Amino acid sequence: MRKEHVYYHHGINILRSSDPRVRRVRRQQHEPRAHGNKVWRSSLVLMDYLSDNPPRPKTQTLEVGCGWGAVSVLLAKQCQASVTALDIDSFAGAMVALHGQINHCKVNFLHRDFTTLDQPTLGNFQLIVGADICFWDHLVDPIIQMISSALSAGSQRLLIADPGRPPFWLIADHCVENFGAEILSRTIYTPCKTQKYILRIDNS
Ligand SMILES: C[S@@+](CC[C@H](N)C(=O)[O-])C[C@H]1O[C@@H](n2cnc3c(N)ncnc32)[C@H](O)[C@@H]1O
Repeated sequence: MRKEHVYYHHGINILRSSDPRVRRVRRQQHEPRAHGNKVWRSSLVLMDYLSDNPPRPKTQTLEVGCGWGAVSVLLAKQCQASVTALDIDSFAGAMVALHGQINHCKVNFLHRDFTTLDQPTLGNFQLIVGADICFWDHLVDPIIQMISSALSAGSQRLLIADPGRPPFWLIADHCVENFGAEILSRTIYTPCKTQKYILRIDNS
């Protein structure tokens, strides 16, 4: 793998958009919609958190708005979780497959809108994660609804990483008040220096 097109984070190879395989997917599919055009830094911070706080092996895990699936690949490969990566954009499916392939691990992809997930479906997952998914105001209520349904259905933990955009704070404040959530600030120094927030909601 050519180094300038790939970087390494917590044992996972991550492709840059300049990689010829990424360019091929772009030609075969369409341009990514809804910002799924790279691995965002919130994912890198969430991967760092999960490396220090891994779920138990075989944990049934859902990543919502997975984009290129770096968090899912880390969970499957380093934590032996059973992972479903979900995104509204079919382009993400091709990128999740590519990252699974270069990292020699299996991640299931679900092409779906996370705002349509019902309670029984959410209840299949013990851990639900998402990175940089709170970027539009109209997503605030559906994300709160998804979190509430997942907790009612018995999901054990939800983790949402974000740069700290206004919709994230609306969701975070609601979850602190109503679900006893915590907001963690986390900084990583490699592969780049960046600080993000992680909303952690535990089902108690
Ligand atoms: C800013 S990107 C973040 C991608 C990835 N989580 C990361 O951190 O690299 C937002 C992702 O959410 C997806 N997305 C947006 N709205 C969605 C929805 N309603 N249901 C499922 N995925 C959605 C987009 O297609 C995109 O891949």
